[in-house]
Amino acid sequence: MDQKQQQQRNMNMNVKKKMKLGSKRSRLAFGILLGLFIVMNFWMLSRIQDSKSSKSVSLPQELRKMSKGKKPHKTAYARLLYKAAHALAAQNENKEPKDLWLEPYHAVASSWQPCAHQRVWRPSEGNNGYILVTANGGINQQRVAVCNIVAVARLLNATLVIPTFMFSSVWRDTSQFGDIYQEDYFIDYLKPDIRIIKELPKELRSLDLEAIGSVVTDVDVAKEAKPSFYLKHILPLLMKNGVIHFVGFGNRLASDPIPYHLQRLRCRCNFHALQFTPKIQATAALLIQRMRQNATHSGLLDENLVGPFAKSKGKVKKDFRYLALHLRFEIDMVAHSLCDFGGGEEEKKELQAYREIHFPGLVQLNNITKIPLPERLKAEGLCPLMPEETVLMLAGLGFKRNTRIFLAGSHIYGGKSRLNALTTLFPNMVTKENLLSSSEIEPFLNFSSQLAALDFITSTASDIFAMTDSGSQLSSLVSGYRVYYGGGKMPTIRPNKRRLADIFLRNDTIEWIVFETRIRKAVRQNKRVFSRPVGRSVYRYPRCSECMCNTQEANLPIRPR
Ligand SMILES: *[C@@H]1O[C@H](CO)[C@@H](O)[C@H](O)[C@H]1NC(C)=O
Ligand SMILES: *[C@@H]1O[C@H](CO)[C@@H](O)[C@H](O)[C@H]1NC(C)=O
Ligand SMILES: *[C@@H]1O[C@H](CO)[C@@H](O)[C@H](O)[C@H]1NC(C)=O
Ligand SMILES: *[C@@H]1O[C@H](CO)[C@@H](O)[C@H](O)[C@H]1NC(C)=O
Ligand SMILES: *[C@@H]1O[C@H](CO)[C@@H](O)[C@H](O)[C@H]1NC(C)=O
Repeated sequence: MDQKQQQQRNMNMNVKKKMKLGSKRSRLAFGILLGLFIVMNFWMLSRIQDSKSSKSVSLPQELRKMSKGKKPHKTAYARLLYKAAHALAAQNENKEPKDLWLEPYHAVASSWQPCAHQRVWRPSEGNNGYILVTANGGINQQRVAVCNIVAVARLLNATLVIPTFMFSSVWRDTSQFGDIYQEDYFIDYLKPDIRIIKELPKELRSLDLEAIGSVVTDVDVAKEAKPSFYLKHILPLLMKNGVIHFVGFGNRLASDPIPYHLQRLRCRCNFHALQFTPKIQATAALLIQRMRQNATHSGLLDENLVGPFAKSKGKVKKDFRYLALHLRFEIDMVAHSLCDFGGGEEEKKELQAYREIHFPGLVQLNNITKIPLPERLKAEGLCPLMPEETVLMLAGLGFKRNTRIFLAGSHIYGGKSRLNALTTLFPNMVTKENLLSSSEIEPFLNFSSQLAALDFITSTASDIFAMTDSGSQLSSLVSGYRVYYGGGKMPTIRPNKRRLADIFLRNDTIEWIVFETRIRKAVRQNKRVFSRPVGRSVYRYPRCSECMCNTQEANLPIRPR
């Protein structure tokens, strides 16, 4: 490459010399030379291959194909992608910004240490009755529900029966709590807080809970309900019937106001009491190991995540680092956003059809009120980042072409072809499906929640984590976990989509260098360290005195909004 660059430089100089000298040769000859120069340039670029990737990729050709694609959409941002490809191709080892893999505000961040394991109370005896819960949603939503119900059980002095998970037509997974988390560990860890049992006592099992009015659904409880609601409306029912069954229980306990130690219990549950099953841990450890190319040492969070399957502690060397990317671009998100993703009429129809089936409420709302146009939504930062925007962001930040990227998530809207830009510019991008052999992944295939657990762990353990949508439950839990245990050394890239939209709006004219500068600035700003804003989730923002101890009591700015 150096040699090629040299050649290019020489040719460049030749051209300039020719121009300066105004040589006697005819203009035709000059034209030929110039043409040759362009061809040469193209040839060199097209020859660039990634040393570690087995398939050779000729960048400009690939990109050209993409931008002319017969697919429903022309590749969005073809011009910028082309520039990104050039920038990545020209990049060498030294050009990665030196703080790219670091937390810019490490000093402030490291003053926050985990302390949700510290308790000051006596165990609740759980004498007021039994609580059953059937949590809905995907694995991450269920995780939140589990820790919320733990807090409610303590609040009501109730005994909790190991949570069950609702079978959903979306996730189609029959996994129960014990298939994902270590039941006994959970029970024992929380013993000083609440009483948890595996099954309802025999004499209560025959009760018709529906008939006695003990089934409480999401219709009966407001979102973000306050503790006073539970004391006023649920406690009497519990005392009367001896058992309550919460069905759904998504987002049913407020973030604030919550008594201090109850809040701490929530954190303790999420960050300490939930350990994945050995089956999941072992396979996740394999994924981490492969992402790190068999490095002999573990990352900072490996032990918290995969327990005994973690390698011995030590510093992960530069060559073994990886980036995890959660590209939240599944059809549900895409359709729900009401945004435009450059796919024209076909895309519009497809998403509308999906909405009519899955989000009839949204369709109705869209009919009666004027929801802002897609351009407006985008400008407001309300649209999920497209894969093309994501790759541009990563390239703009300065990640090298050979960066090892773990792609979390599944079923990208638009399928493989929608990932072309990503895989072309960053050929070392893999998924759990690529990294595991068919026999290794087979035991997980029918269990989307367990597959999602593998994504959760491999993303959380990564040296840098990039999300595309901060509203996503997976991204949110992963980044919270990295804050809690990361000691300011586990950076997360959380784009400010409004600012990005502003930059992308200039895609047709913006120079690459300007693009780069603006992207870096926007992302860096979003890495500021702040304590949990009121009303925000402790799982996502554990930097608050209930969950973490601030050893420096630094004056932390509270982020506006
Ligand atoms: C739960 O038990 C504690 C300690 O015995 C007591 O102070 C509290 O009032 C009880 N709460 C309810 C809702 O029963
Ligand atoms: C890691 O180890 C496995 C098994 O020993 C081997 O097959 C694989 O090629 C190694 N990978 C790298 C990148 O060294
Ligand atoms: C919304 O409006 C369209 C056409 O105006 C109609 O076909 C559709 O049934 C309406 N949907 C709802 C849920 O009101
Ligand atoms: C997965 O489900 C399919 C169909 O329900 C079944 O045939 C197959 O045996 C299952 N595989 C595993 C590993 O459980
Ligand atoms: C790309 O740039 C053009 C021209 O500035 C603009 O109209 C278009 O909205 C931009 N695309 C996106 C997705 O922002």
